[in-house]
Amino acid sequence: MKERLEAIKEQTLKAIEGSKTLEELNDIRVSVLGKKGSVTEVLKGMKDLSSEERPKVGQFVNETRAKLEEALSGRKTDIERNLREKRLAKEIIDVTLPAKKVKAGHPHPNSIALKEVERIFIGMGYEVAEGPEVEYDYYNFEALNIPANHPAKDEQDTFYINNDILLRTQTSSVQIHVMEGGHVPIRMIAPGRVFRSDEVDATHSPCFHQIEGLVVDKGITMSDLKGTLTAFAKEMFGEDIKTKFRPHHFPFTEPSAEMDVSCFKCGGKGCRFCKGEGWIEILGCGMVHPHVFEMCGIDPDEYTGFAFGVGLERIALLKYEIDDMRLLYENDVRFLSQF
Ligand code: DAH
Repeated sequence: MKERLEAIKEQTLKAIEGSKTLEELNDIRVSVLGKKGSVTEVLKGMKDLSSEERPKVGQFVNETRAKLEEALSGRKTDIERNLREKRLAKEIIDVTLPAKKVKAGHPHPNSIALKEVERIFIGMGYEVAEGPEVEYDYYNFEALNIPANHPAKDEQDTFYINNDILLRTQTSSVQIHVMEGGHVPIRMIAPGRVFRSDEVDATHSPCFHQIEGLVVDKGITMSDLKGTLTAFAKEMFGEDIKTKFRPHHFPFTEPSAEMDVSCFKCGGKGCRFCKGEGWIEILGCGMVHPHVFEMCGIDPDEYTGFAFGVGLERIALLKYEIDDMRLLYENDVRFLSQF
């Protein structure tokens, strides 16, 4: 029995020595000291021993077991230390490595252009106003002197929500809200989204941005309009550019005009950029129609004013020489990161 135990001990110690993982070590423990383990198996033969032999063998068994336990726990500590060292080696941080670059966002060309327009008009004493994108027909059309049968009210151009409510097709609706407020004089710009039932192409989108402008005071004349918008154009596109006002028609202004700026690419000689014209159309404008004043409760005999509407995308495309409006909406980082 002693010899068998001795043999088991030698074999087990070797196995423990050679074990590499905690699992392997545990298997050894179970196979030797477990309920069906080899030492336990040997112990079962104790009952056949004489009463003198039994305590001696018992002592030897205990010693053997203690030895094995000690070897097992020693090896366990070694394996665990090994594992920890490996893990720590893996977790080492090389503080000299270059950091990962954080990709910062870029302002959108629309935002840059809007900031610039706002800066210019705030500098001239204007306030920035806002109005709702979901609007009553009254504010978008009727109060702007656009009658019920006007082609602009056609469902092909306007997104209607119901008979009275629609998505505004122009920021001119904000003029009415501001004038209804009754605080004259007024000097405001109102940037915002507008919606039209247009197909997407290089120059159209069902959703785009306008900046409305409105000035109301006693004694405002067409020359105030021309002076203000020319000052704006020079600040926006360069001191050397010239402006030209062409007669036009808008229902809410009388007289009405469109303003062109001399091409800031060719200086007015005519190039690809201005399509050979030498001039580029920038905005619509005019003197506030007396009827619009009346509907807003302002006396047209006492007050006059001018208004204008600029397409923000148009300004951004021109200023940054972008030839397709769709680029402004696709949010391609390769495009945006150029600004
Ligand atoms: N609302 C016009 C449009 O959408 C632009 C416009 C023209 C606005 C003349 C004005 C203006 O305030 O006076 O085309």
